[in-house]
Amino acid sequence: MARPVQIVPSVLPTDFARLGEEVRGLEAAGADRIQWDVMDGQFVPNLTVGPDVIAAVRPHVSLPFEAHLMVERPEGMLPRYVEAGCEVVIVHAESTTHLHRVVASVAELGARAAVALNPSTPALAVRHVLHLLDLVLVMTVNPGFGGQRYLAEMEPKVAEVAAMADELGCDVDIEVDGGVAPGTIAGAAGAGANVFVAGTALWRDPDGIAHAVADLRARAESARPGLASA
Ligand code: DX5
Repeated sequence: MARPVQIVPSVLPTDFARLGEEVRGLEAAGADRIQWDVMDGQFVPNLTVGPDVIAAVRPHVSLPFEAHLMVERPEGMLPRYVEAGCEVVIVHAESTTHLHRVVASVAELGARAAVALNPSTPALAVRHVLHLLDLVLVMTVNPGFGGQRYLAEMEPKVAEVAAMADELGCDVDIEVDGGVAPGTIAGAAGAGANVFVAGTALWRDPDGIAHAVADLRARAESARPGLASA
């Protein structure tokens, strides 16, 4: 049974001076989940927010939160992101020596475990933890900044993860993040992705964020017939 299409706005392009109001706006626009781009200035060349900021916004929004941990050695602070109200915790395969142990500890904390793959990291990196995952994130940009060019050459990797999940009987969401827009989402959906992180494209839509969310959802669903919306 194919998992439903989900549109997950990134908080990166929001006006951080009005963060709570902006995230409430994303909820009102029909988003399925909110992605918090957590960056430490080490794993990626940018620095953003931590668990205290996520916790501050949590009571103002009912949507699920996911923490995309673009940080070195994420294991140290995992409980803080779950306590802050993140239902999904995404760690990068490249950010820890003991990925199996880190992913297992996310599940032990009661959150849904997910692994992200940078563009140069092969799909095989998740083969031996796939049974522990609820989601695999195939990065379609090199992480660190919004507004970058979508890397279509990642679509075969999306298809590879989907085929691996089928082969191993793992029921996982496949998410893409970076450069997702009206002109790129069909390629990712056609390759097998069902969860789409979007930042820049939502704010660029002249008809507003709600239109952008609905348009991206429709484009993804038409590229993957048979998927119900979330
Ligand atoms: C990693 C970040 C970005 C952001 C969305 O750099 O995770 O991918 O979420 O980026 P855009 O603006 O391209 O949708």
